[in-house]
Amino acid sequence: MRLSDIPTPALCVELDAFERNIERMHSFFADKPCNVRPHLKAHKTPAIARIQRDAGGVGFCCATLSEAEVFAAEGFDDLLIANEVCDPSKVERLIALSKKVKLTVAVDSRASCDIIVGTDLSVLLDINVGMPRCGVAPSEAVELARVATRAGLNVKGIMGYEGHVTVIEDVDKRAEATRKSMEVLLGVADDLRDNGYAVDIVSAGSTLTYDVTGTIDGITEIQAGSYALMDTEFAKSSPFEEALRIMCTLVSVQGNIAVLDAGLKTMSIDHGNPGLFPEARADVLYLSDEHTSLVIHDDFDAKVGDRMWLRPSHVDPTVNLHDELYAFRGEEVEEVWPVVARGYRGP
Ligand SMILES: Cc1ncc(COP(=O)(O)O)c(C=O)c1O
Repeated sequence: MRLSDIPTPALCVELDAFERNIERMHSFFADKPCNVRPHLKAHKTPAIARIQRDAGGVGFCCATLSEAEVFAAEGFDDLLIANEVCDPSKVERLIALSKKVKLTVAVDSRASCDIIVGTDLSVLLDINVGMPRCGVAPSEAVELARVATRAGLNVKGIMGYEGHVTVIEDVDKRAEATRKSMEVLLGVADDLRDNGYAVDIVSAGSTLTYDVTGTIDGITEIQAGSYALMDTEFAKSSPFEEALRIMCTLVSVQGNIAVLDAGLKTMSIDHGNPGLFPEARADVLYLSDEHTSLVIHDDFDAKVGDRMWLRPSHVDPTVNLHDELYAFRGEEVEEVWPVVARGYRGP
């Protein structure tokens, strides 16, 4: 199949860039004690996860129970739900899943432990390392370990997601902020060990911090997701390449405005408007439901019916809008990858 055979808008993966991204991340960890536990929420696509596993990924992260269920059914047997599952209606499903695969789930409060009390589930204590989201205060981690243990949960270790540093574009400043967050996380690991708890897993990291977090002694695994596909936002300050592209058709040219057939129903713009590929002869003006409007330059020479490419600004919520990814090289579509876990039904 050729790209020209595919109806637009279509979410596509440029395979050369994708393969270089996989190689860059996984070869970095090949000779290090730290592992990569790829985050599936970025792509929700078993075909990509299999490539990550073959490249050396050790287990996987999910954001939701439904993602974990989908990937378990696809044969992935070591899954960390790096999120708090606090909906009581999901507990039976958690237990059922834990009987089929090695399942670990995050907890960050007495309440989150109470919901899964007596289930014998394996848990990581989610520690707040500076991001205003989930995570128990570091000073309360030992008490949380006591609560979790008393609730009959198996405390396997800790996690701390330093997502707040990803907005820092300056690489050195980001590295410094990352190290500070990891000092907090490793301090908690020491406290727990001093109080008699084994801390086998210390899970942290992301695409923009892997090379710092992943080389700090004591961090056992990196939860990176975006690196495989990448978007304009993360590519600004990262060596990973934008492999994710949206193939569109030009549907109208009126004066200095040209319009593409992909808009908000095709991509997320919470990290900004998409880029054009190649970047020339037009600027993105705005997106509406089904359209992207461009202001064209004098040398714009595409005509109605031509194909054009957009570069999405945020991988995860964009992929989540699509049923399949078209993996291509040159003009040839080599594979069509179903986004099997697409959709969002809460953690
Ligand atoms: C808990 C957690 N870990 C890790 C990540 C890292 O993802 P990425 O590599 O895409 O930055 C995320 C992303 O939001 C996350 O929520």
